Amino acid sequence: MSLKPNIAIDGPAGSGKSTVARELAHKLGLLYVDTGAMYRAVTYFALRSGIDVGDEGELDTLVKDIRFSLVRFTKNNIVALWCNGENVSPHLREKEVSRYVAKVAAATIVRECLVRYQRLFARTGGVVMEGRDIGTVVLPDAEQKFFLTASLDVRLERRGKELQAAGKSWTKEELCRELTYRDEMDLKREIGPLRKAPDAVVIDCTNLTVKQVIEKMLESHGGG
Ligand code: CDP
Repeated sequence: MSLKPNIAIDGPAGSGKSTVARELAHKLGLLYVDTGAMYRAVTYFALRSGIDVGDEGELDTLVKDIRFSLVRFTKNNIVALWCNGENVSPHLREKEVSRYVAKVAAATIVRECLVRYQRLFARTGGVVMEGRDIGTVVLPDAEQKFFLTASLDVRLERRGKELQAAGKSWTKEELCRELTYRDEMDLKREIGPLRKAPDAVVIDCTNLTVKQVIEKMLESHGGG
């Protein structure tokens, strides 16, 4: 019996990974896993419980207590992240969470814990997993790897529209500061930095629609 493939998608904030990964999973009948949501969930719990997000010891206790599960709604193919029996998805795009997530994600203990969970989600194959270190660290043996890029202007524009549609009020300056800060933190951290895997296919999404990106991925998927 051959297992379903795993597909890894990495790239910087706002490159369009989430939309593309969700649609690709839907098209191929695979499970969509948003690893950024897991880092955001840890950040949300840390802020809610008032711990110091720069303190690895406090993060250690917190993260070891979180049980993650993915709940897929077959009707609309949306996958919600539940932690300890609570649906945290509605909180993950809050401003404070976005502001602190890169700091929390740089903590060794947090990465170790979440990477273990992510490998568990993919152990029997059949996931489209998106993040920063999926092709390099989490699933180095994934059957397909993609690295999505886009210009900063386009990334800011896309993220601005998404936030507006979700009724969140960010100024352009705030958004630019937040995105560039996270990019820098994600690129520079010691463990699991944002990197293209040597065998990943790079797709520059600056001038492509979601449909065009998916077409490129499917071409490459079909081609082996
Ligand atoms: O949606 P967006 O691209 O803004 O970010 P995200 O995918 O929700 O990820 C939020 C943050 O989580 C990133 O900026 C990283 O700091 C962290 N992250 C990570 O370190 N490793 C991953 N595999 C995924 C996300």
